[in-house]
Amino acid sequence: MSSYDVIVIGSGPGGYVSAIRCAQLGLKTACVEGRDTLGGTCLNVGCIPSKALLHASHMLHEAEHNFAEMGLKGKSPSVDWPQMQKYKQSTIDTNTKGIEFLFKKNKIDWIKGWATIPEAGRVKVGDDVHEAKNIIIATGSEPASLPGVEVDEKTVVSSTGALELNKVPKKMVVIGAGVIGLELGSVYARLGAEVTVVEFLDHITPGMDAEVSKTFQKMLKKQGLTFVMGAAVQKTETARGKAKITYKLRKDDSEHVLDADAVLLATGRKPFVDGLGVNDLGMQMTDRGQIQVNDKWQTSVPGIYAIGDVIEGPMLAHKAEDEGMAAAEQIAGQHGHVNYGVIPGVIYTHPEVANVGATEDSLKAEGRAYKVGKFSFMGNARAKANFAGDGFVKILADKETDRILGCHIIGPAAGDLIHEVCVAMEFGASAQDLAMTCHAHPTYSEAVREAALACGDGPIHM
Ligand code: FAD
Ligand code: NAI
Repeated sequence: MSSYDVIVIGSGPGGYVSAIRCAQLGLKTACVEGRDTLGGTCLNVGCIPSKALLHASHMLHEAEHNFAEMGLKGKSPSVDWPQMQKYKQSTIDTNTKGIEFLFKKNKIDWIKGWATIPEAGRVKVGDDVHEAKNIIIATGSEPASLPGVEVDEKTVVSSTGALELNKVPKKMVVIGAGVIGLELGSVYARLGAEVTVVEFLDHITPGMDAEVSKTFQKMLKKQGLTFVMGAAVQKTETARGKAKITYKLRKDDSEHVLDADAVLLATGRKPFVDGLGVNDLGMQMTDRGQIQVNDKWQTSVPGIYAIGDVIEGPMLAHKAEDEGMAAAEQIAGQHGHVNYGVIPGVIYTHPEVANVGATEDSLKAEGRAYKVGKFSFMGNARAKANFAGDGFVKILADKETDRILGCHIIGPAAGDLIHEVCVAMEFGASAQDLAMTCHAHPTYSEAVREAALACGDGPIHM
C-alpha cells in the first residue's frame, strides 16, 4: 500500500493546480485521473478546444470581412474541417502533455484509473488501495440533461460532441443561450452554419449585466445568429441524421417545430460524483447535488476536502484553480483564501464579454447608491483602427466612496482588460485611482481608464 500526505482525485484545473501547490509546500502528493490524459474537462473537452475553434473561426471571419479594406488581397480561405480538428487536437495535446511534465517536475505520482473513497484516509483505484492523510475531491462536472432530449453525441450533442461534429452542419439548433451555447453557436455560425438559439428566458446569458446582455444579443444577431426567446424545448426527435426540435412559447403556449442537422444541448452542467462513494461516506451534499464544504474547503468527513465544479459557485476553471491552491495551503497549515467577490467571467466570442463584481441589477436590489462610468470603444483609437469599435466598458463605483464595485466590458480583448479592474478591486481601489494611472497609447486599456474617468469629471475622448 502506498501512502501519501495528499491524494487529489481529478486532474482538471482544480485538481492539477492543487496537486502542484501541495507538492510545492512539501507534501507527498498523488493525483488520480480516470481519463487517459490529464487536464480534466477544461483541457480535454472544455476551455482549450473551444478556444482553439473560436480562434480559427474568428480568423476566417476577419479574412472574410476586414482583409480587403485593410488592403489584403488574394485567395480567400475556406474551411478545411478535418485540418481544423487536427489543430484543435494538437492544442489539447500540447496542454495535457504540459501537465504531465509539471507533475514529473513536482514529483507528483499520477495514479491512472477511477477512484473510490472506501473510508476517510483511503483511496481505492482498481484493486489498489492507497493511504492518504488528506484527500481532495476535484471530480468536476458533466452536462446536465433535459427531459425529452436524448443526447446521442452525433445529431443531438452536448458540448463534448459539438467540439467534434463530423462536419459543419447546414442548420444547427442550440438549446440554451448561456456561455457554451453562444461560444460554440458562434463558432458554427462563422463557419457557415445557420444557427438558431432557443432560450427559456427572455434574455441571454443569465446573471450578466442587463445592458451588456442586450448589446451582446444585438451583436450576435448582426453576426447571423437567430434567437427564439421565452421558449421551453419539449423534445427532440432524430431520424437519418436529421433532428426535429419541438418547443412551446411561454407567452401563449403555442407549439413550434424546428429542423436541424445538429442540435447542441447547452442548458447547464451538474456536479460529477459518480462512483466516488459519497453516500456511503455520509458526506453532506447541497440540494443541488454539490459537495458541501466550509470556508476551508473541508467536507463533512474529516480529512476530505472538495474544490472546483463539484462544489458550489461559478463553474469556472480559474475559480477551481484558486480553490485548489487555497485548499492545499489550508492542508499545509497556511491561510489559503479565495476572494469570491473578485472572480472574473469571460465569454470568448467576438467581441469578448467580461465581467467582475456587482451588476447594476444586483446593486439596485441591495438598495446601494452607485454611479456608472461608461466609455464606448468608438472613442478608442486602437479599436477603431482594428475594426473593433463596437462595445463599451462600464464601471460601477460606490456613489460616496468611489470604490469600484464592478466592471462589465463588451469589446476587443475584454477578457484581458478585465484583469486591471480585478487587481484594482483586490486592492480596494477607487475609480479615481484607475483614472489617475497612466495607460499606454494607443491601447484598448485606455477605454478602461476613460470609463474610470467617466465616474468622475468625465472621459476625455467622448
Ligand atoms: P474538471 O475539469 O471537470 O476535472 C475533473 C476531472 O476529474 C476529470 O478529468 C474527470 O475525469 C476526473 N474524475 C472524475 N471522477 C473521478 C474519479 N472518481 N476518479 C478519477 N478521476 C475522476 N471555464 C473557464 O473558466 N473558461 C472557459 O473558457 C471555459 N470553457 C468551457 C468550455 C466548455 C465546452 C466546457 C464544457 C466548460 C468550460 N469551462 C470554462 C468550465 C471549466 O471547464 C470547468 O469549470 C473546469 O474544468 C472545472 O475544473 P475542475 O477541476 O473542477 O473539474
Ligand atoms: P449556462 O448556465 O451558462 O446557460 C444555460 C442556459 O440554458 C441559460 O441561459 C438557461 O436559461 C438556458 N436553459 C435552461 N433550461 C432551458 C430549456 N429547457 N430550454 C431552453 N433554454 C434553457 O450553462 P452552459 O452554457 O451549459 O455552461 C455550463 C457552465 O460551463 C457554465 O456555468 C459556465 O460557467 C461554464 N463555461 C464557461 C465558459 C467560459 O468561462 N467562457 C465557457 C463554457 C462553459
